[in-house]
Amino acid sequence: MHHLGHFLAGKRADAPQEALKILDIVLRELSTKRYCPIGRSFFSPDIRAAQRLGDGLESWCGFYQSIRPTQMGLSLNIDMASAAFIEPLPVIEYVAQLLGKDVLSRPLSDSDRVKIKKALRGVKVEVTHRGNARRKYRVSGLTSQPTRELVFPVDDNSTMKSVVEYFQEMYGFTIQHTHLPCLQVGNQKKANYLPMETVQHNAYDQDPYAKEFGVKISEKLASVEARILPAPWLKYHETGKEKDCLPQVGQWNMMNKKMINGMTVSRWSCINFSRSVQESVARGFCNELAQMCQVSGMEFNPEPVIPIYNARPDQVEKALKHVYHASMSKTKGKELELLLAILPDNNGSLYGDLKRICETDLGLISQCCLTKHVYKISKQYLANVSLKINVKVVASQDWPEVTKYAGLVCAQAHRQELIQDLYKTWQDPVRGTVSGGMIRDGVSEGQFYQVLLYELDAIRKACASLEPNYQPPVTFIVVQKRHHTRLFANNHRDRSSTDKSGNILPGTVVDSKICHPTEFDFYLCSHAGIQGTSRPAHYHVLWDENNFTADGIQSLTNNLCYTYARCTRSVSVGSPPAYYAHLAAFRARFYMEPEMQENGSTGGGSCHASKGTRAGETGVRPLPALKENVKRVMFYC
Ligand SMILES: *[C@@H]1O[C@H](CO)[C@@H](O)[C@H](O)[C@H]1NC(C)=O
Ligand SMILES: *[C@@H]1O[C@H](CO)[C@@H](O)[C@H](O)[C@H]1NC(C)=O
Ligand SMILES: *[C@@H]1O[C@H](CO)[C@@H](O)[C@H](O)[C@H]1NC(C)=O
Ligand SMILES: *[C@@H]1O[C@H](CO)[C@@H](O)[C@H](O)[C@H]1NC(C)=O
Ligand SMILES: *[C@@H]1O[C@H](CO)[C@@H](O)[C@H](O)[C@H]1NC(C)=O
Repeated sequence: MHHLGHFLAGKRADAPQEALKILDIVLRELSTKRYCPIGRSFFSPDIRAAQRLGDGLESWCGFYQSIRPTQMGLSLNIDMASAAFIEPLPVIEYVAQLLGKDVLSRPLSDSDRVKIKKALRGVKVEVTHRGNARRKYRVSGLTSQPTRELVFPVDDNSTMKSVVEYFQEMYGFTIQHTHLPCLQVGNQKKANYLPMETVQHNAYDQDPYAKEFGVKISEKLASVEARILPAPWLKYHETGKEKDCLPQVGQWNMMNKKMINGMTVSRWSCINFSRSVQESVARGFCNELAQMCQVSGMEFNPEPVIPIYNARPDQVEKALKHVYHASMSKTKGKELELLLAILPDNNGSLYGDLKRICETDLGLISQCCLTKHVYKISKQYLANVSLKINVKVVASQDWPEVTKYAGLVCAQAHRQELIQDLYKTWQDPVRGTVSGGMIRDGVSEGQFYQVLLYELDAIRKACASLEPNYQPPVTFIVVQKRHHTRLFANNHRDRSSTDKSGNILPGTVVDSKICHPTEFDFYLCSHAGIQGTSRPAHYHVLWDENNFTADGIQSLTNNLCYTYARCTRSVSVGSPPAYYAHLAAFRARFYMEPEMQENGSTGGGSCHASKGTRAGETGVRPLPALKENVKRVMFYC
């Protein structure tokens, strides 16, 4: 406690982790007894009525709790949480819901059995055949035979008895549905499971454990002062009807505006993989796209280099190469600047294959069009990808606009080379200021300074390798989104401090009281809430050689949030560099050859089988390199 006191008073730099942990344990004790603890959160169907989700599941409300040292002293951070639980149901009813069919009259198929086994493994069940002796077991599996065929030894002499008989004799219980399999339960008795008590309002002043340790917790939420940073004026081209624009509540649109630096697309083609899109629709779409680009200040050739090319999804590579070469010969060797691809909705791997071939093989920039959202499909596609991206970085390359970012991703962590490479990718590397983003997952607060030392060293070495005396001042900021601090406007009905959803306004910044006792950190909510409670990002300035003022860094951060290329909204997670690093990493997962993404079964096609095995053996595989012309653009956007 002495150490903690000194830390809170700013007399010591290192947080006393043990003391904090002990206090945390004390304050969790009561809730651990009352509720169902999962991770750092507690759940109960009684906190707020459980809601049915279907498939035998229901959602329980709960809360996250942790103790944090802040400028106000110790703060208890409580946040809402919810999680899916299995409904308390008779198992047969649960299975019927799970399969969505009648399970009493028909035998189960093998795939049904697999599904049930997966869903029930680890689930606690309570027996009902023994009157008041309601023992609980944890399900460990499912028998492959139906109940009526199951026999087991009843004594040491290997006398066998059927399950049906046994229940009849022992408990006078007639098993009705003998065609269903049996649950296998672990033999360790979980008799110490306690039923959830009726839950009261969380009253920490009545917490006997807290009391015993002399901890008092105020019943009131902490009240902090916030400022709302103004949105930046956005500059558009002089020749547009609107030359500039002030975003309202974190958003704006492109109506009547022209891009400052509209690009030229003079050579493009379109490839069609979708059976359901009619030719007139596809042509109409391409025309409208070209028109819209022109209206927005780009020069976009209305005519493709070659007519829309139709191809089957299973010929993706052949088709892309055809379009690439056919276009090239038409333009006398000039490369295509853009390839539009119309994709069917049902094929996630097509999207991945196309991106991989275009970006690592042909050097083509592509834009895919789907009627459904790409992300949804690719998620399913990626479910089987085991590749772990360790490092993802992006860095801006267009000072002073700071809107264009080159991105690099590698599966193996060689920071210095990666940063060196990134610098080399810029056309004019050693000039101006650069903002960069790097994603590192799973870094806890305790590791911040370790990470700082490592990364700073890599940046320095990379800079020195480019030019011996090149030592740009570095500002190093950690951005976190996964924290549980939430900000609510005190005067909730006051329109001037909340948006339509009742959330705090974009630009809201808090840098006192709930922040670190001594260091340079702040919370900034830069976006407008769309759903639920807005989550401010937390920024921790670990290192600053640019001598930023608090206002300076907060405004810069907020302004950067308005430069994200994918939407006319201010974004929330940190800043565009962090977003772009995520996108680049996401894209890179497609670059592994498709056979490596299979789950190890034989479905991958025989010609790929040997590669597939090799892939299974090595943990980290090198990623195929990007083509040079792809590297220079924001291909991952
Ligand atoms: C097991 O067999 C032995 C010898 O045949 C017999 O004495 C004993 O009673 C049997 N035990 C049970 C539980 O049937
Ligand atoms: C796209 O290709 C498919 C199959 O080759 C074809 O059925 C469809 O009509 C084509 N669509 C367009 C717009 O050409
Ligand atoms: C999906 O695309 C892949 C190529 O990525 C192709 O091999 C496969 O046949 C396609 N599947 C369907 C159902 O069209
Ligand atoms: C920041 O301040 C330090 C100490 O006053 C000074 O040496 C350094 O040059 C300043 N850096 C910049 C980028 O102005
Ligand atoms: C991979 O696993 C999924 C889900 O278990 C399955 O649907 C799919 O068929 C598997 N793919 C291969 C190639 O085995």
